[in-house]
Amino acid sequence: MTRRTGEEDAMADALRAAAAEAALEHGPDYVVPQGFERYTAEDHATWVKLYERQHTLLPGRIVPVFLEGLDALGIHPTGIPDFRDINAVLGRTTGWTIVAVPGLVPDDVFFTHLANRRFPVTFWIRKPEELDYIEEPDAFHDLFGHVPLLMRQDYADYLEAYGKAGIALMGEGMLHRLARLYWYTVEFGLMRTPDGLRIFGAGIASSPGETRFALESASPNRIGFDLGRVMRTRYRIDDYQETYFVLDGFDGLPSLAVEDLRPVLAAIADAPDLDPGDVLAEDVVVTRGTGEYARQRAAKIPN
Ligand SMILES: [Fe+2]
Repeated sequence: MTRRTGEEDAMADALRAAAAEAALEHGPDYVVPQGFERYTAEDHATWVKLYERQHTLLPGRIVPVFLEGLDALGIHPTGIPDFRDINAVLGRTTGWTIVAVPGLVPDDVFFTHLANRRFPVTFWIRKPEELDYIEEPDAFHDLFGHVPLLMRQDYADYLEAYGKAGIALMGEGMLHRLARLYWYTVEFGLMRTPDGLRIFGAGIASSPGETRFALESASPNRIGFDLGRVMRTRYRIDDYQETYFVLDGFDGLPSLAVEDLRPVLAAIADAPDLDPGDVLAEDVVVTRGTGEYARQRAAKIPN
C-alpha cells in the first residue's frame, strides 16, 4: 500500500468533503461537476489497479464490443477519465452523455436521466482498502462497467427505453419488476455469442471474482432469458448471483416499449415471485447449477 503525502491527504479529504457537499447541494437532477482536478494520485492509482486487473481477465470472457468500446472511448489504464473526453466520443456515436452524480439517485431521477440518454456516473472512486469489495457503486463500476456498451446503438436504445418505461410505470407498483430486469440484464447479464457464453453485465464486468464465477463456476444456474420469468425473480444484492440469465445476442434484448411491456406484466400479475436459485420446468436451462456456493454461504451465516 502506498503512503500518501500530506498534500495528497489534503486533496483526498477535499474530494470527500466535496462529495458530501455535492450530495447536499446538487439540484433536482442530482448532477454535480466531476471535479476532475480534485482526484489524487492515489485515486488514479486505484483506477489503474482495478482497470489492469479486469482488463487481464475480460478478453475471451466478455462480449468483444465491450473492449472495443473501452478503446474507442479512450478509457485506458492511465487513470480516471475526464468525463468531458468520454462525452465528446459518446455523444457523436450514440447521442448519450454521462453525468457526474454523488452516488445512487432516486428512481424517478434515474429513469429521467436514462430516458434522456444520460447515464449517471458516481464521480468518486473507492479507497485502496476497498479494492475487492465496495457496497455502493463508484466511478470504476459505473464508468468502466457500464459506459463501453453505450457505444452500441441497440444497447443504448434499450437503456433509454428502460428509463421511459420506468417513468410510464411510476406509481403502479411495478418498479420491483423493472429493477429485476435491470439487475439480470444491465448488471448481471450473460449473452450467447458465436464463440460461446460471454458477460455483458456491468456488475460482473467490474468484479474479478464474479467475472470468473459467472462463467466458470459449476454453482450458478444459467437460464435462457425470458422477460416475464426474469421480472418474477428476486435477486441477491450482497453476493454472487445464484442464477444468471442468458440473452441470445444483442438481438435478444427485449422491447421495453410500454405497449409491449404491459401485456407481459399483466400475464405475471398473479404469478408468485421466484427465489434466486429456482429452476422451473419451462426454463430453457443452459447450465443447471449445483448450488454449492450458495449452500456453503448459507451454512456460514447464522440464522
Ligand atoms: Fe451498476
